[in-house]
Amino acid sequence: MTTNKLEWWQKTIVYQIYPKSFLDTTGKGTGDLNGIISRLDYLQSLGIGAIWLTPIYPSPMIDNGYDISDYTAIDPAYGTMADFERLIAEADKHGIKIVMDLVYNHTSDQHKWFLESKSSRDNAKSDWYIWRDAKTDGTAPTNWRSIFGGSSWTWCEERQQYYLHTFASQQPDLNWDNPNVRQALYDAANFWIKKGVGGFRIDAIIYIKKPQNLVDGKPDDIDGTVSVHNMIANTPGILDYLYEMRRNVFDGHNIFTVAEANSVQPEELKYWVGKHGAFDMLFEFNHLNVMFPDGEVWYNSKSWKLTDLKSVLTASQAATSDNGWYPIFFENHDQPRSINQFCPAGADPVKSAKAIAAVLLTLRGTPFIYQGQELGMTNTAFSSINEYNDIASYGQYELAINAGFTPEQALKFVQFFSRDNARTPMQWSTDKNAGFSTGKTWLPVNENYIKVNADVESEDKDSVLSWYKQLVKLRGQHEELISGTYEEILTDSEELFAFVRKLNDTELTIIVNFSLNNVELPKELTGKTIILDSETDNINTKALRPMEVRIVE
Ligand code: GLC
Repeated sequence: MTTNKLEWWQKTIVYQIYPKSFLDTTGKGTGDLNGIISRLDYLQSLGIGAIWLTPIYPSPMIDNGYDISDYTAIDPAYGTMADFERLIAEADKHGIKIVMDLVYNHTSDQHKWFLESKSSRDNAKSDWYIWRDAKTDGTAPTNWRSIFGGSSWTWCEERQQYYLHTFASQQPDLNWDNPNVRQALYDAANFWIKKGVGGFRIDAIIYIKKPQNLVDGKPDDIDGTVSVHNMIANTPGILDYLYEMRRNVFDGHNIFTVAEANSVQPEELKYWVGKHGAFDMLFEFNHLNVMFPDGEVWYNSKSWKLTDLKSVLTASQAATSDNGWYPIFFENHDQPRSINQFCPAGADPVKSAKAIAAVLLTLRGTPFIYQGQELGMTNTAFSSINEYNDIASYGQYELAINAGFTPEQALKFVQFFSRDNARTPMQWSTDKNAGFSTGKTWLPVNENYIKVNADVESEDKDSVLSWYKQLVKLRGQHEELISGTYEEILTDSEELFAFVRKLNDTELTIIVNFSLNNVELPKELTGKTIILDSETDNINTKALRPMEVRIVE
């Protein structure tokens, strides 16, 4: 395969922006579209070809925009539709496409569809959501626990019925079995296609289809209820709706789709992605779940080994080797920073960021860089639970308290796993608030901004940012990094992650030391030409220092 047979989105690099935290141009403390427009030069110099924007639609912001109250408008906090159109046009001049987030499992409880649906049992939208009567004792229809904690059913006085919500009670699930609902969603996505977007990231899509009968599940050890995930994820019949959406929205446009599908297994990928699949790519999360073999309950995280991580990544590479395409990512707005999540505690943060970057930009697939990752931004810990904004943090805190942990212990889990770790303001400069805003920022700025910021790193050839640019350049120069095959080597090593990317008779070997030790290289890897190394002086050709990256020919 050569790159000219690949689509544009297979050759590009995507940059994920969390607009609320990217750049504020008005002093209100939250980011906006004009902020993004003003940094297109920066993004172009990084070498990216698309921006995925997390939701910018009107929203009560219970879940920071994942509770949408209007699918075809812009939240005034971010700007206007004219700003959005300017963003598309300006980004285009920089060779960058704009990718929107489709949040179609649920709306906000303030969406006009829901307000109508809940008003009575016989209005025109009465079955646009999932309504059920109470059990005979008045309790919720089933014992399901929502993803954010607490029952996944909320009582509605007007209808004297419960409605289902996979996430927060302010995020009622839509009823995809109703064809009018599906059509309304397709119309909204087509609205954005007409505006010229370059693709979609599709949120929480595995939950859209519900089983025919909603029944109690076997209570788990967490709190005697059952996670809604186990009861509704990937319900048979879901693919019919997804193929229908593909035909009605995605087909025939020069766009890409990447769906969030936590728990789809590599062997099922063929139905989900590729020529006959529903999407172009799938975020399937298997590598993020190595610490959560029993489901994502933060107090229940398990220690894991490098071989665990390597084997799931290799399985995903294999599963997409001749069908579909892999979106490579180690960070997004729902995860801790990758330095904290994937590198040994105590490792140098700059070296750690470079190690992750090397894997991100040399695996086979389309790399997704999350804002600030290219600077080596890290987790921050707030000193009390009340300082957190992330709704998931509150639910997880409750779960830990109910399981018998002390408030201090519960806070520790939140400090490590909170989604706010990824949502603190982008670090642009050494100015007040890291140059993110002149006003009071909606989340505190990480104190390390004095060292970790775009301005300082642009001037430093050994910075994380400069390393990203070197890797991006390397991708551009070595076609094997784009379309070549992937083969893992040294599979049993608990210290080195190593693999070969090969195309015809050219190949590159990427070796990353994910340990705190100096690691001797096996003989066959020592005599090769070094193309790039994350260390700049006294390179020992026979060994790698802690967190060192070496790419050899
Ligand atoms: C996805 C989003 C997350 C959001 C959830 C509910 O997982 O990435 O941020 O809270 O869906 O929409």
